[in-house]
Amino acid sequence: MADKKARLTVDGLEDAIELPVYSGTEGPDVIDVRPLTGQGLFTYDPGFVSTAACESKLTYIDGANGILLHAGYPIEQLAQHSDYLEVCYLLLNGELPTPEQKEQFVNTVTNHTMVHEQMSHFFNGFRRDAHPMAIMCGVVGALSAFYHDSLDINDPHHREVCAYRLIAKMPTLAAMCYKYSIGQPFIFPRNEMSYAENFLHMMFSTPCGEYKVSPTLAKAMDKIFILHADHEQNASTSTVRLAGSSGANPFACIAAGIAALWGPAHGGANEAVLVMLNEIGDESRIPEFIERAKDPNDPFRLMGFGHRVYRNFDPRAKVMKQTCDEVLAELGIENDPLLKIAKRLEQIALEDDYFVQRKLYPNVDFYSGIILKAIGIPTNMFTVIFALSRTIGWISHWNEFHSSPNKIGRPRQLYTGPKKRDYPAK
Ligand code: SDX
Repeated sequence: MADKKARLTVDGLEDAIELPVYSGTEGPDVIDVRPLTGQGLFTYDPGFVSTAACESKLTYIDGANGILLHAGYPIEQLAQHSDYLEVCYLLLNGELPTPEQKEQFVNTVTNHTMVHEQMSHFFNGFRRDAHPMAIMCGVVGALSAFYHDSLDINDPHHREVCAYRLIAKMPTLAAMCYKYSIGQPFIFPRNEMSYAENFLHMMFSTPCGEYKVSPTLAKAMDKIFILHADHEQNASTSTVRLAGSSGANPFACIAAGIAALWGPAHGGANEAVLVMLNEIGDESRIPEFIERAKDPNDPFRLMGFGHRVYRNFDPRAKVMKQTCDEVLAELGIENDPLLKIAKRLEQIALEDDYFVQRKLYPNVDFYSGIILKAIGIPTNMFTVIFALSRTIGWISHWNEFHSSPNKIGRPRQLYTGPKKRDYPAK
């Protein structure tokens, strides 16, 4: 309920407009602007820089202090002590599972990792060099053609079944994209493996030989999944919520989220970071790229830097950087040239006034690609892994949206086009 009021005076309106102000458990108060419509007014906020589109209990971000909480738990503690499926349970249910709940959740997910055998035919329609995100948009959306038994969005049990299916099948579909691109047969999931171990198995095993998953790499993979799990109302999650508000089925909504994530300003940045580091090629060329990033007339941006919310270090980037050092040490890649360029680039940027004044820091995408490349994952699969990880965030927000009374999302606009005019007589 509103515990405060805002009063808005508008030239031409006799009385001030009184607007309710609500406080959350953390973060800025919000002004309920809905009464403005009755006064013939809209708010105007391109890019939703200052707009709270909904109420949510899942994730809290404090951009000024570089804080990220999932149901109150700091991301650093989850990355250190939890695992991805436990974080999935937390986001879906709002509490950490008991050991019994965890075991049941893991078993359910593990036993739904296979996809319908017909799904494999969809892959054959793509060129072998199709971008895997293009394939994921297609095959994830196609899941709705197979699961007519759980598409009633108003049934909490159906919503739960969809969540399980999506969490379980995304790694299988992601690995299928990779296998298809290299002309190798799809590898079935193995129920005795952990979630991250299973994914690496499906990526790198072949019918001729089992890929031995290093525990360090499996743990690093699981940590990468945790770090990308959810991030409040980002572009792709807002896309999923908006698609969900029309009553679209969950698989179609997740496919919409995958499409939104693909952009280089969002989840596509992890792939773009590696492209950028390779283009820089040598530490001696860093100043040239820093200058390009600062040039308002050059569309080049420093990929992996900056964030709409964080005006401090992205806490995920700190964990990612530490994981990067651990994985490269484990693999004996002491002097990875790309890591050296990345660390030098970070150091120079953080000392440069342009970045300091604009509070531009490394974000989640800056170091993740270096780890994924070291694990042996090709660059064009990086955003697929982001999508795999973020599926739990998307479906948890979709579920939260449908768990209470809701309306279709339908923003308005400031119209600056031509006034009414008649069609010219012939
Ligand atoms: C993700 O929202 C989320 O939570 C997303 C995400 C998640 O988990 O879901 O965290 C994942 O998408 C991380 C961001 C990945 N994208 C990149 O790394 C691409 C590079 N970053 C930029 O494109 C940019 O920083 C954004 C898109 C991330 C944020 O853009 P904003 O908030 O719209 O900021 P802006 O473009 O208004 O920038 C403010 C100023 C501008 O300069 P001025 O007009 O003030 O002179 O900072 C500059 C920008 O030109 N700027 C950069 C820059 N990022 C911002 N200049 C150079 N390089 C950059 N990377």
